[in-house]
This record gives sequence, structure tokens and C-alpha cells, in this order.
Amino acid sequence: MSVLLVGDGNFSFSRSLCSSPPCPRITSLIATSYDNKTSLIKKYGEGAQRNIDEIVSSGWIVKHDVDARRLEKYFSKDTRFDYIYFMHPLVDPDDRVRMVFDGKINNGEDIIIANRLLIADFLRSAKDFLTLPHGEIRVACKDTYPYTWWRVSQLGKLARPLKLKKVELFRNDDFPGYEPRTVEMDKSFPSAKSKMYSFGVLNDEGNVEFEEQWYGEKELKLQIVCSICEKQFTSEADKARHLKTEKHNIRAKLEEKWAKTVEEIYQ
Ligand SMILES: C[S@@+](CC[C@H](N)C(=O)[O-])C[C@H]1O[C@@H](n2cnc3c(N)ncnc32)[C@H](O)[C@@H]1O
Repeated sequence: MSVLLVGDGNFSFSRSLCSSPPCPRITSLIATSYDNKTSLIKKYGEGAQRNIDEIVSSGWIVKHDVDARRLEKYFSKDTRFDYIYFMHPLVDPDDRVRMVFDGKINNGEDIIIANRLLIADFLRSAKDFLTLPHGEIRVACKDTYPYTWWRVSQLGKLARPLKLKKVELFRNDDFPGYEPRTVEMDKSFPSAKSKMYSFGVLNDEGNVEFEEQWYGEKELKLQIVCSICEKQFTSEADKARHLKTEKHNIRAKLEEKWAKTVEEIYQ
């Protein structure tokens, strides 16, 4: 199987794929970072260099300065991967994100929108490099606030025909040696509370339903829901109370801004 990894930090995730059980099944692996080599080593130190050396000595390829939003810049049109991973994406602080923010990120809401745009742009670009029909794009994301407000499960809709195939609890033990790194420095963060979102190109409508019905941890058992907050209620009265809460209203405003942004950028 052929694998592409984008947005790596200290390359421990890519290295873990080389040295853990999936290894014998890998026929090609390209590990990439957004940082150029100099800033990567400055940020993540000698540990990153050691991981890179191990990947290269296993016979795989390492590239730097690769923007996950524009994969067509680095790969020919006929390149295909069985798996494309973006682990714990987060907008680079140096990025000036789109004109909707007037060249800068203003507040928490803008940061959420900027991160959604990063992932949506990545999905839109990566979908053209998947081996069909089985290829998968996998995005790991923390399952705590504010990351839950990114609503990663909904972003495949902006990259049709991509659809959400599954959402699983991320298990670090599946990737021995993976040490998630922050976007700014050689500092780790816990991945115990992360989810892995898998997207693929599928024809059956059942998967669209899965996407629509993804309400966080819970299966959709009840019909009374707030689709913005991904909550279920046992009565209309409970839902009405929820719709008046400050938290719901903050989220509703965010979704309005997001819908406007999507319209400006993608339509
Ligand atoms: C929280 S760090 C995670 C690093 C690494 N993936 C890990 O799991 O340890 C977020 C990563 O997203 C990368 N990133 C941000 N914007 C990117 C872009 N446009 N293309 C590729 N990677 C990007 C950053 O460079 C950084 O490495």
C-alpha cells in the first residue's frame, strides 16, 4: 500500500508507520512537512533529524515545504495513494489566512474557521490523489474544546465526492513511538482524547446518512436534535431550552459566519 503523510512535526508519526506492524504492507511512503528543513530542525530538534534518517534508511521519501492544501503542486496528476494522513492539523501561526480575515486572524471564532479551511482545502486537494475505490484520507483531531467545534466530520461535504466513512477513537498504541508535537515547538500534547476521521469516495448513500447522523460519541437514537451542537433531546421543551442558551447562540453565530465564508470561497 502507498502512503502519503502531510503536515508532520517531528516525523515520529511517519517513522512509526515504518517501524510498526503495518510496515511489511507498505510499498511506498512519502512523509512531508509544511516547515522547510531549517525551521523544522530549529523547532523540533535532533529528534526530528533522527526520525527522518530512519525513514530515509528504510527506503522511503521525506520532503519539506509541502502545503497540504495544494498537493497538485508537488505530485503529478496520475499519482495515487491508498492512504493520506494528516495528523492533528493546526493552522501555522505565520500563515496569513485568507482575505475573509483581512489578512489576520482576529479571535477564537476566526481560528476555528481558519482550521476548518485548512482541513477542507486539504480534503479538496487530497481527494484527487486517492486510489479508487478503497483509498482513504485520515485526519486525527483532538476531541476536546475548541477542536470539537471544528466539526471535522462535516468537512468532507466541501470535497465531494468524498464522504465520511468512519470515526474512531484514536489509539496512540497503534502507532508506537508517535509523539504528537505542537505547531510551534518541540512540545508534546496528549492524543488520548483524539478521534480519527476517515474519508473516502463511496457511492452508496448509506454513508451520507452516517455523515448526517454523526452526533459526537452518541448514535442518533432520538429524533429531536440540535445539528449545530450535535446534541439529542428527549423532548421539544428540552430542545427549546437548549436553543436559548448562550453556548448554542455562540455556536449558531459561528456557523452563520462559516456558511458565509464557505459561500465566498467555495461557491
Ligand atoms: C499540532 S501540529 C501537529 C504536527 C504533527 N502532525 C503531529 O501530529 O505531531 C500541526 C501541524 O500542521 C502543519 N500544517 C499547518 N498548515 C499546514 C499546511 N498548509 N500544509 C501542511 N501542513 C500544515 C504544521 O506545520 C504542523 O506540523
